Amino acid sequence: MIYTLTLNPSVDYIVKLDSSLIMGELNRSSNETKFPGGKGINVSRVLNKMGVKSKALGFVGGFTGSYIEEYLHNENIATDFVQVKEDSRINIKLKTGEETEINAKGPAITEEKFAELKAIVSSLTAEDILVLAGSVPSSLPKSTYEEIVKICSDNGVAFVVDAEGDLLLNVLSFKPLLIKPNHHELGDLFGTVLSTPEEVIPYAKKLIEMGAENVIVSLAGNGAVFVNQKTVIVSTVPKGEVKSSVGAGDSMVAGFLAKYTELGDLTASFQYSVAAGSATAFSLDLCTKAHVEELLPQVQIRRISKEYR
Ligand SMILES: Nc1ncnc2c1ncn2[C@@H]1O[C@H](COP(=O)(O)OP(=O)(O)OP(=O)(O)O)[C@@H](O)[C@H]1O
Ligand SMILES: [Mg+2]
Repeated sequence: MIYTLTLNPSVDYIVKLDSSLIMGELNRSSNETKFPGGKGINVSRVLNKMGVKSKALGFVGGFTGSYIEEYLHNENIATDFVQVKEDSRINIKLKTGEETEINAKGPAITEEKFAELKAIVSSLTAEDILVLAGSVPSSLPKSTYEEIVKICSDNGVAFVVDAEGDLLLNVLSFKPLLIKPNHHELGDLFGTVLSTPEEVIPYAKKLIEMGAENVIVSLAGNGAVFVNQKTVIVSTVPKGEVKSSVGAGDSMVAGFLAKYTELGDLTASFQYSVAAGSATAFSLDLCTKAHVEELLPQVQIRRISKEYR
C-alpha cells in the first residue's frame, strides 16, 4: 500500500474577482470554490485518478479537518489522520487576473500527537511506500522528517521525499527511493542557479552520491532529468498551455509511483511522471488518467549514459 503524509493539510478557498482587488474596500467575488490542499493529499488524489489505492496520513482538526476527511472519503481515498484540537488551516487563493495567496499557519501539533503519528508510521511494513511531501509546520521539531524516515528505514519501508533545503538533505543518508526537487530547489541546495537539463545532471548525481536511489529533477517547461546509480535520462515535456501548475510536482510523484508499483520499470515510470506533471499543469484541477496517457507519446527521452561512473 502507498501511504502519503501531509503534516499541515488545508482547505484551499479559491476566490475569483472580476476586477482587481481594492485594498481597504469591500470587494465582491464572482466565483468561489474550495477543495482540500496539501502535497501528500494531492499525491493520493492523483494516484486515485490512476486507479492506485493509497492511504492519506497526517494531522487534521475541527470542521475544516472533517471537510478534508469527508472529501477524500467521497473520492474513495482511505485516511488515517491523527485528530488535533485546533482547526485545520484555510489557505486563501485570490484570483484577480494575477494570483495572490495567503497560507495560514495551521494547528499546533503537540508531542503527544506527533507520537501518535509515529506509531502509525511504525505499523508500515516492507510491502509499503510512504510519501513525505511539503514543509514541516513550526510546532513540530525540525527533525520531524528524519525521525519518520528513520522508522521507515528500520522497518524496510521504501519512502519518497518531495521537500526543500535541509529537510531534503537530512533524509538522503536514509536512502529515499525517490526525491523530486525542481531545478530551483536543486540549485539552492548547492548555492547555484541551474536552468538547463545539462546543468542539472552533475548536481542530481551528487544527490545520488549522498544516498538517494532515484532523482527526478523537473524544470517546468524546459524538460526533466532522471538520474540513478546506473543511468541518466533527459526528457522533453509535452507542449501546451499552462492553466494552473498547482500540484504539478505532486502529480509527478504520483505518476512515477503509479507506474513503478505496476511495472517496476524506472524509465517508464519517469516518462509517466512527466506526462502526469504536464497533464496537471495544462488543467485547472489535477490531471486525469486519460489526459496523462494522451500526453505520454510527447515525452521523448534521451539516455545520456548507461553508467555514469
Ligand atoms: N510550461 C510547461 N509546459 C509543459 N509542462 C509543464 C510546464 N510547467 C510545468 N510542467 C509540468 O509540470 C512538471 C512539474 O513542474 P515544476 O518543475 O514547476 O515542478 P514543481 O516546481 O515541483 O511543482 P510544484 O509547485 O507542484 O511543487 C514538469 O516536469 C512538467 O511535466
Ligand atoms: Mg515541487
